[in-house]
Amino acid sequence: MENFEPVILKNIPDLHKLDVYLKHGGYSALEKSLKMKPEGIIEEVKKSGLRGRGGACFPTGLKWSFMPQKTDKPKYLCCNGDESEPASFKDREIFEKNPHQFIEGTLIAAYAMGVKIAYVYIRGEYYRWIELLQKAIDDAYSKGFIGKNILGSDYSVDIYIHRGAGAYICGEETALLNSIEGKRGIPRFKPPFPANYGLWGCPTTINNIETLANIPEIINKGGEWFSKIGEPKHPGTLLYGLSGHINKPGIYELPSGTLLTDLIYKYGGGVKDNKPIKMIIPGGSSMPPLRGDEIEGLKMDNENLKSVNSYIGTAGIVVMNEDTDVVKVIKRITKFYYHESCGQCTPCREGCGWMLKILERIDNGLATSKDIELLNDVANNIEGNTICAFGDAAAWPVKWAIKKFLPEFEKKVKNEINLPIANSVHSLRVTYKV
Ligand SMILES: Cc1cc2nc3c(=O)[nH]c(=O)nc-3n(C[C@H](O)[C@H](O)[C@H](O)COP(=O)(O)O)c2cc1C
Repeated sequence: MENFEPVILKNIPDLHKLDVYLKHGGYSALEKSLKMKPEGIIEEVKKSGLRGRGGACFPTGLKWSFMPQKTDKPKYLCCNGDESEPASFKDREIFEKNPHQFIEGTLIAAYAMGVKIAYVYIRGEYYRWIELLQKAIDDAYSKGFIGKNILGSDYSVDIYIHRGAGAYICGEETALLNSIEGKRGIPRFKPPFPANYGLWGCPTTINNIETLANIPEIINKGGEWFSKIGEPKHPGTLLYGLSGHINKPGIYELPSGTLLTDLIYKYGGGVKDNKPIKMIIPGGSSMPPLRGDEIEGLKMDNENLKSVNSYIGTAGIVVMNEDTDVVKVIKRITKFYYHESCGQCTPCREGCGWMLKILERIDNGLATSKDIELLNDVANNIEGNTICAFGDAAAWPVKWAIKKFLPEFEKKVKNEINLPIANSVHSLRVTYKV
């Protein structure tokens, strides 16, 4: 990566300050955009191949083109900075290090889709980052980049921050809309999709913070330039988050398709105490985990991760060494999903508690091998059977850990005590106390 230039986390001191951002060409992409036709901007974003960085990797330009051009209703843009998935901590880095590039991207996106109001939904616990972003927004207002007739044009737009209240589910795009509307943050049925019926029933687009932060460079340097960074099917850079048993944890912006081994050993300084790797979560806690023996030559982007039955998600990578107790890790992750399930869909509401109870039994040496089958069965019955992807997010770590680390589970049910409770689904209905 010798000639590689970061797109978002540029190594420029004090870039979060408006005067420094302006000195380095800040808001020139907005100026250029205001002279372009909105559909020209959408075409450029399509050409770039940019895919959403919130986890689902949906093509951004295509998503923008779903917004109706002719409508009497107001249109909205919601910028998703909820970032509550364990192992994901990249968006706050943008709020801290380069908030104006995100704001500029939001303004360009808003102009391209004919949006007059953008909301930035931020995880409630992010006090510091909310303050930093508010300061940046205020500064941008004071210089006429946000507000009435921006940069002397006839285009006006406002940006508001909306704080979440500590619920992971509010990162799901339709739960986020309900939350902004002041309702309980639970996902909505789709269709109708937000592009037609979103915030207050009006056309709405939801984009991740990192997705939007890429836009100014795409406008300034061209979609084609962006499409040539990293892997062609998932181009651009990714803000890889390294955590766990790693010597240098943190966020590393590198091209998509960077080798996982390079991320761990070249950039992350290697595994703590130089131990072999047992397990890796490649993109936030909901992504199917990998075994240490699967990572050689593995490129980190969505297409390449499919070859090992996983996905890039938010690119939050957790490295776990040979001392890791896989069952305990999966139990802890499941406890999170059990706690965060909104309770709307029965398979998720009941299933997450059932999975947790079975994992408790396995971990405490009170399970039979039938419990492993039962656990797998419960996970399979959650997956694909819920209104939103939270169900999949809860089921995948369990299901794939069983597939990939079966001996770790079997080890805990050896010398099994055959308790009748372990074979009864009804026994699982008892409320699990956390
Ligand atoms: C349970 C759950 C939590 C989510 N949390 C976030 C989040 O914190 N941030 C985010 O950008 N997307 C999150 N998503 C994905 C969003 O629903 C949506 O796909 C994304 O914000 C779209 O932006 P993008 O196209 O720019 O990626 C979550 C999805 C689910 C199912």
